[in-house]
Amino acid sequence: MLTLFDYAETCLHRGHRDELLHLTHEAKSKLDSGELTTSSNTKPLPITLVTFPAQPVWVAPRLVPKRKLTAKGGSAAFFHAIGHIEFVAIYLAWDILYRFRGLPNAFYQDWLRIADEEAQHFELISKHLQTLGIDYGDLPAHGGLWELAEQTADNLLARLALVPRCMEAHGLDVTPGLIEKFKQLDDNTSISILQRILTDEVGHVERGSFWFKYVCEQQQLNPETEYRRLLSDYYQGGKPKGPFNREMRIIAGFSNAELDWLEAQSL
Ligand SMILES: [Fe+2]
Ligand SMILES: [Fe+2]
Repeated sequence: MLTLFDYAETCLHRGHRDELLHLTHEAKSKLDSGELTTSSNTKPLPITLVTFPAQPVWVAPRLVPKRKLTAKGGSAAFFHAIGHIEFVAIYLAWDILYRFRGLPNAFYQDWLRIADEEAQHFELISKHLQTLGIDYGDLPAHGGLWELAEQTADNLLARLALVPRCMEAHGLDVTPGLIEKFKQLDDNTSISILQRILTDEVGHVERGSFWFKYVCEQQQLNPETEYRRLLSDYYQGGKPKGPFNREMRIIAGFSNAELDWLEAQSL
């Protein structure tokens, strides 16, 4: 019987976009129907071997084209950047389940469902990009996104604190404002794509919080102290800047104390 980790290994190392999307959906349906096992006695390959497609070219954030949404090509540049985040998010979901072994079955089910949803988000955006006259890969993209994955490759708690509970949580803070901008432009397609993503992302951050607390409990650590410590250790600048979407972050498993700490001295 194939294991979930066979799929993960192929998805993370081939660097082929369409194959990644296809295999992600296939793995989800096979795991759901009991055709894949989550037990394995193999070891993950080092994270430095993870391979992305040759396009888009990854560059420093300041070199990613930024245009106002109202400018010519502005919406295409915006959705190209969001599409890239979704594409890397497929890898992030595969990577957390590939790299960290020996956890309950539900851990692997959760992150595969998330990989599958990230693939759906990417597909929605790449279809939308085509109506705007470009394809994913035509513009350079932010190279910094994967760095946190590499830095937390040997520490599950740090991975959970920094990826779902920091990067994805930031999406909850900024997406409602972006939806407002598209409302002003009467752009219903963009609104519905962003709305769909926002709804799913609350669930991704919530699973991040759930597993973060689970691992803290296993290791007899205080989750709030640990969260602050890991952000100080791994997050450039010590902690992310607000404003924070308190309402959604609470639904996604943040405590009031964590949000108070994030807000204190945050600009
Ligand atoms: Fe997503
Ligand atoms: Fe996500």
